[in-house]
Amino acid sequence: MEKKNIDWSNLGFGYIPTDVRYVSDFKGGKWDEGVLTADSTVTISECAGTLQYAQTCFEGLKAYTTKDGKIVTFRPDLNAERMIDTCKRLEMPVFPKERFLDAVDKVVAGNAAYVPPYGSGATMYLRPYMFASSPVIGVKPAEEYQFRLFATPVGPYFKGGAKPISIRVCDYDRAAPHGTGHIKAGLNYAMSLHAIVEAHEQGFDENMYLDAATRTKVEETGGANFMFITKDNKFVTPKSGSILPSITRRSLMVVAKEYLGLEVEEREVLFDEVKDFAECGLCGTAAVISPVGKINDHGKEICFPSGMNEMGPVTKKLYDTLTGIQMGTIEAPQGWIREIKVTE
Ligand code: PLP
Ligand code: COI
Repeated sequence: MEKKNIDWSNLGFGYIPTDVRYVSDFKGGKWDEGVLTADSTVTISECAGTLQYAQTCFEGLKAYTTKDGKIVTFRPDLNAERMIDTCKRLEMPVFPKERFLDAVDKVVAGNAAYVPPYGSGATMYLRPYMFASSPVIGVKPAEEYQFRLFATPVGPYFKGGAKPISIRVCDYDRAAPHGTGHIKAGLNYAMSLHAIVEAHEQGFDENMYLDAATRTKVEETGGANFMFITKDNKFVTPKSGSILPSITRRSLMVVAKEYLGLEVEEREVLFDEVKDFAECGLCGTAAVISPVGKINDHGKEICFPSGMNEMGPVTKKLYDTLTGIQMGTIEAPQGWIREIKVTE
C-alpha cells in the first residue's frame, strides 16, 4: 500500500479528512449494523439533543506504524470501556465494546495510506464520538443517536514537540465534585475554551486546574493528566474523582513500576508540594508526555530543574519506554497492542 504524499514530519495537531469514517445510528432502541462512508458531513435536526443540550461525548486514541511495518493501536479496549462509562453518565446508549473495536480496526485499515510511517514523528489520531441526533426541546435525553469514528494524521499537540511548555494556574474551575470531570463529555471541553484562549493570550500553553472545592489540590489540564517526579525519583500522579482517568497515565504507572523500577504514588497532590518536585509532565493520547518547564501561579513562577530546553531525565525514560512500546521496539505488556490487519 502506497502512503499518501504528506509532509509527515511537519504535521501539527490538526484535522485532515481521510478516505473513510464509520457511522452507526441508534433508532428504535437499537444500533444499526454500521457502515464505512466517504461522506465527512453530518446532517441532523435543528433541534437535535447535541445542539440544544450538548448531549455529546468522544474518545481519542492513536494508530501507529511499528518499526517492522505493522499498524497497531494502543489499548483501544480501554477507550471502549471509558466511552461506555461516559455514555451511562450522559444517558446515552452504550456502544458495545466489540463493535467499538471493530469500528477502530475498519477505519484504520480503510485509511492505512494515511497512517504516518515509523520514525516520522507523526501518528494517526482516531476520534470516536457519539451525539444525540433527534429533536428534544424539553430537557431530557434524546431518542436517537449517532456513533461515528474518523481518523486524521497528526503531529505533536504542542508546537515545540518534546520541548518543555509553560502553564498557568487557572482561576476557572474545570469540574465540580460529583460532576462530569471523570468522563469525556463534550461539555467539559466547551467550558475550557475561554480559559485556554485567555492562557494563550497571556503566553501560556495550558491551564493547570485545581480542585473546585478547596483550590488546594492539583487536578489536570484541559486535555491531559499530570505526572510528577520527586527528587528521590518517585512517580507521583494526582488521584481525584473529577479528573479523566487517562489511559496514558494508567499505562505510565505500569511503565514506571515494571519497566523502570520506580515507586509509584497515585494520591492527592497539594499545589503547595509542586515546587518541590524535580520534574513535571502532561500525559495523554494527544499530549503523549509533554514536559512542563514552568508553572506560573499568579505571577509567582515555579521553575523545574530540567529547565525550558529539554525533558527531565526520568520523564525522558518514561517517554522513550512508552513510545517504544507503542512503536514496537520494546515488548508490550500482554494485551496492550492490537494489530490491524490491512488487506490491499
Ligand atoms: N484529561 C483530559 C481532560 C483529556 O481530554 C485527556 C485526553 O483524552 C486526558 C486527560 C488523557 O487521557 P488519555 O491518556 O486516555 O488520552
Ligand atoms: C486526547 O488526548 O485524545 C484528547 O482527547 C485530548 C484533546 C485535548 C485532544
